[in-house]
Amino acid sequence: MSQSLTELANLYATDKGIVHGRNTGGASLRMWYDYFHNAKIFGMDVNPCSYLDNDRIKTFVADQGKIEDLDAFVEATGGIEFDVIVDDGSHRPDHQQVSFSYFFKHLKSGGLYFIEDLASNGLGDGGNDRIACDNIRNTRTVLKHYLQHGNFAEPNALIDQAYLSEHIDYIGFHVPPRKIKYVFKPSIRRLLKKVVYYKIDQEGLCVIRKR
Ligand SMILES: C[S@@+](CC[C@H](N)C(=O)[O-])C[C@H]1O[C@@H](n2cnc3c(N)ncnc32)[C@H](O)[C@@H]1O
Repeated sequence: MSQSLTELANLYATDKGIVHGRNTGGASLRMWYDYFHNAKIFGMDVNPCSYLDNDRIKTFVADQGKIEDLDAFVEATGGIEFDVIVDDGSHRPDHQQVSFSYFFKHLKSGGLYFIEDLASNGLGDGGNDRIACDNIRNTRTVLKHYLQHGNFAEPNALIDQAYLSEHIDYIGFHVPPRKIKYVFKPSIRRLLKKVVYYKIDQEGLCVIRKR
């Protein structure tokens, strides 16, 4: 895959003339709806998105960082197991980690969990914007540490690490092309052409497969 999920959704939005705030957005859900003809799609957002609901899309209002909201979502969706889960919400590391460790239990065996827009926005990263969290490590670091050492970097906001360790089958990272364009000057990039190169710790997307 050469694009991140957000970039794919942005291309889809441009193609369909979807403009956030003007005609209500929701490019990702609409894209999955068009792409997977038989899929039932559940959306969760802290803001109401019922304008997106149709025969196969159902949206819910929930804060992805609040367990009671996640419990309510699971109850409302009948406790089903999901094939694919995409987190493209607040992008805060604490929210990403709470949602991931909560929803991984509701993913099918062999299912895929995507986390969009990984950032250097946790403890020790110096981030201070609205998606930063200064008391836990950023999600990229937490997951990379697991790959390298077999345990998750601390402090983190993961709920049941033993369950995750037992059920994680694979973790892959993806660097969106836009993230590499400033790494080398164009002349050097041309020389490198087919060599894979990217700036360390700039992965923007990860996928985790369940055992
Ligand atoms: C980057 S946009 C994703 C848009 C989506 N992919 C689409 O195409 O419509 C992030 C979304 O996360 C929502 N959001 C922000 N904080 C949230 C939270 N704590 N819980 C759930 N959703 C949240 C925002 O309202 C926004 O719609």
